[in-house]
Amino acid sequence: MPAGRTVSIRVRRFDPAAGGRRLWQAYDVDAGPMMSVLDALFWVLENEDPTLAFRYSCRAGMCGSCAMVINGREGLACARRLERLRAPVTVEPLRSLPVIKDLLVDLRPFFEKYRAVDPFYIGQAASVFDPASEPAVLPRGDAAREIVDRQIDCIACGACYSACPIVSIVPEFLGPAALNRAYTVAADARDAAGVERLHRVTADGGVFACHSVGNCVTVCPVGVDPLLSIQLLRKGAVHR
Ligand code: FES
Repeated sequence: MPAGRTVSIRVRRFDPAAGGRRLWQAYDVDAGPMMSVLDALFWVLENEDPTLAFRYSCRAGMCGSCAMVINGREGLACARRLERLRAPVTVEPLRSLPVIKDLLVDLRPFFEKYRAVDPFYIGQAASVFDPASEPAVLPRGDAAREIVDRQIDCIACGACYSACPIVSIVPEFLGPAALNRAYTVAADARDAAGVERLHRVTADGGVFACHSVGNCVTVCPVGVDPLLSIQLLRKGAVHR
């Protein structure tokens, strides 16, 4: 699709204050070169409909706020170029999350599950008088650190949660992002909550609910592999 011409986009609209019906609305966007899907939504906001609701922050592919479903696949609206997409370009809110309005979803279920794995490192009782008693990070060359260094790039955008078919049919499934986060802290040998954390992620709704479909890997906009984290958590649990 050449840039600098009119591009048709179809946006999934939903307004609870106007009857709450979900419908598609089409717009012909005056598309400039290098225009992103997020730019196109701003074009609609400024030229066609000031009530269109969507979320964004950094506009640079870093914060994850603008995750949505574009042409049927999860992605960051600020990072997807219109000229690389088949028209008409369809834009929908993330799946498996309550829609507040239009493209705006309620991320609380996603973050409640994230919180359920205690997504932070819980240290041993290190002495505050002797900070050197505990290294600040895993040493370079450590095999787990190689993986953890990649997996902590997650920006918690919710794309993997939306793309996961198990999330949509098993409500208690913690989802790829939460389990990935659990691995990044559980892999740290200094994590004092390791065993308890392992119990949590192997209970109902944990790693054994995953069917290894791999959509989470395909859609991750920052190259994280949540499926690998899930498999490593399973392996750790079986070894114990
Ligand atoms: S607005 Fe931050 S990732 Fe798109």
